[in-house]
Amino acid sequence: MTTKSKMKGIILSGGTATRLFPLTATTSKQLLPVYDRQMIFYPLNTLIKAGIKDILIIVAPEHSGQYLNLLGSIFKNCGIHLYFEVQKLPRGLAEAFILGESFIGHDNVAMILGDNIFEDNLEDEIKNFSGGGTVFAKAVPDPERFGVVEINNDGKAVSIEEKPQNPKSNFAVTGAYIYDHRVVEIAKSLEPSERGEVEITDVNNRYLSMGELSVKKIDGAWLDAGTFDSLLEANQVVKEKGISRNFDPAVEKAIVDFNEELKMLAKKRLL
Ligand code: DAU
Repeated sequence: MTTKSKMKGIILSGGTATRLFPLTATTSKQLLPVYDRQMIFYPLNTLIKAGIKDILIIVAPEHSGQYLNLLGSIFKNCGIHLYFEVQKLPRGLAEAFILGESFIGHDNVAMILGDNIFEDNLEDEIKNFSGGGTVFAKAVPDPERFGVVEINNDGKAVSIEEKPQNPKSNFAVTGAYIYDHRVVEIAKSLEPSERGEVEITDVNNRYLSMGELSVKKIDGAWLDAGTFDSLLEANQVVKEKGISRNFDPAVEKAIVDFNEELKMLAKKRLL
């Protein structure tokens, strides 16, 4: 009898976010507010809603203290375990799997970028994952800004290119990925691209060439809050669609308890 591998989670939350200077001169992009919650709670919620209990958060060294203050003990007593790893330099998205090697072990892993917000529930794909790689595609008006996946009539991925000048489709590869444990060895074998990064698109192409890459189209809102305009849009969409009102009860309770504790501490300081 074979036992099903466990699913672990990673949130990649490092980088320098120069496109958001001066906002990110004082904090991490993924700790900026999106309506009434810090940005990182949105990908955290997506992973927790999908039943993931072990989540590695990868952060830049200059912001590690802020992450620890916010998230260090927020999920105590509810069976969700957060782990932290520092990425010293932004060497690319695929480095997450190298930094996460011992965390992943022989399990599967779902990674979400810390600045990606999904309205859709990714629970079914995460829970039913059976191996290889899975990416999530969303039709967008400006595919040249993203990884782009070409999909055939059978719904299968045909090609994936990173920020192509002449995109072969209008389907962006969003910042949510599911892989089996082989992703670690794949990431370790990659050469950095021209921009000096180990690219997630190269990971996806490796699974594609093995005939083991699935692509799922998503219907709901998807936001990559990496520019002033997309951050503003993310705030508006989250409010309009009530995305932060629909958090998993464990996430909502953790935030409410954290707020109460802060209020209590503030009161004590005033007395
Ligand atoms: O948002 C989806 C897109 O994300 C995909 O369509 C692309 O294929 C993928 O390459 C990526 O493109 P971006 O240009 O948006 O990647 P960016 O460099 O902005 O990094 C995405 C997030 O990951 C951002 O929150 C910062 C973080 N990051 C990035 C790098 C390169 C890290 O934590 N470490 C890194 O080394």
